[in-house]
Amino acid sequence: MNGNRRVKPQPGRGEEMMAVGVIGLGLMGHSIIACLLAAGHRVVGVTRDVKKRRDTGRHVRLLLKQMKREGLIRKDTAKLAAKLAVSDDFADLGGCGLVIESVIEDISVKLETYRAVERAVGANAIIATNTSSIPVTLLQRDAAHPERFVGIHWDEPAHVTRFLEIIAGEKTAPAVSKRVLALATRWGKEPSLLRRDIRGFITNRISYAMFREACHLVDSGAATFEDVDRSLRNDVGWWMPFAGPFRYMDLMGVEAYYRVMKDLLPELSNSPEIPRAIERVIEAGGRGISNGKGFYRYTPDEAERWKKLFLKFNYEIRRLAMKYPADAGSKSRKSLRKVAGRVPRATGRTA
Ligand SMILES: NC(=O)c1ccc[n+]([C@@H]2O[C@H](COP(=O)([O-])OP(=O)(O)OC[C@H]3O[C@@H](n4cnc5c(N)ncnc54)[C@H](O)[C@@H]3O)[C@@H](O)[C@H]2O)c1
Repeated sequence: MNGNRRVKPQPGRGEEMMAVGVIGLGLMGHSIIACLLAAGHRVVGVTRDVKKRRDTGRHVRLLLKQMKREGLIRKDTAKLAAKLAVSDDFADLGGCGLVIESVIEDISVKLETYRAVERAVGANAIIATNTSSIPVTLLQRDAAHPERFVGIHWDEPAHVTRFLEIIAGEKTAPAVSKRVLALATRWGKEPSLLRRDIRGFITNRISYAMFREACHLVDSGAATFEDVDRSLRNDVGWWMPFAGPFRYMDLMGVEAYYRVMKDLLPELSNSPEIPRAIERVIEAGGRGISNGKGFYRYTPDEAERWKKLFLKFNYEIRRLAMKYPADAGSKSRKSLRKVAGRVPRATGRTA
């Protein structure tokens, strides 16, 4: 492991040899780095101050050891970890074929970061953002070469989950999205491609519709936090790792959903206001598990236990979900493609 030493990676031969840059060594930066190292890439992690990031190497080594213990990798973790270099100089991204930005969700910080990346990387390098909700079209607008700019939306813990959304901005070259899709499969992901660049992409749009309705149920006195959590875990949480909403409606019978929607949809919350349930937590200084105050209360011991259990659960659900791939019940991948081909293409402008 070369720890926090600055290293200029040389361009590699194949994709697996390609050096990848990761900017922003926060929660996601670390787990993205672990995922990339596990796939065999050399990685350059860029942070604002290398001295404040002395623990990055140790943290990434821990994640890799955890992956090995859980059977996700077979290779020597020390050898994989030795392919990481941490730097506070953007020039060290010079040899990277792909650079993934994962700094805070602040548009001006992100735009400033891309300017520095563009100055550092070669003409063929792909520049990607891990934004959760900022449209890629907005982020690529002032880029010197917007066609090589793409969204790669990860989920935490990125070294365990199979989720990856690839978002093509209005100016992203199709070949760039295609190349990232191929890379994502190498990283052990089951990627989705968002063909139209809309705020929140796929999962955040659907999750936030769910969060709003969950808050609405509590705010309107219909149910408690505990009851909403319990119902969701035991209903949607039960089948979702097996089937997405469309497969599930097929399994249960589409007509029932058609009938229910007619009466139910007008009654669901579509308020543009932040719900009171979440405002109350924020106004009381609550941040969730990190300070023990969220919708629930946590002692430091409990907070630690929840974090550990969540990580354990991630590995277990991954093992279970791997047994049931998206086309598990189809005769061949071809039949899946045929069905997907019938879905009308998205048209219209960015939301
Ligand atoms: N946390 C998640 O579950 C999650 C999921 C998907 C996407 N994202 C997105 O990933 C990005 C990072 O999120 P996170 O959860 O890791 O946040 P984080 O706050 O843990 O990490 C952000 C890091 O960026 C660093 N940073 C800030 N400005 C910088 C700069 N100018 N140059 C270099 N580094 C800088 C900060 O020091 C920090 O270490 C955000 O855009 C977020 O929306 C987060």
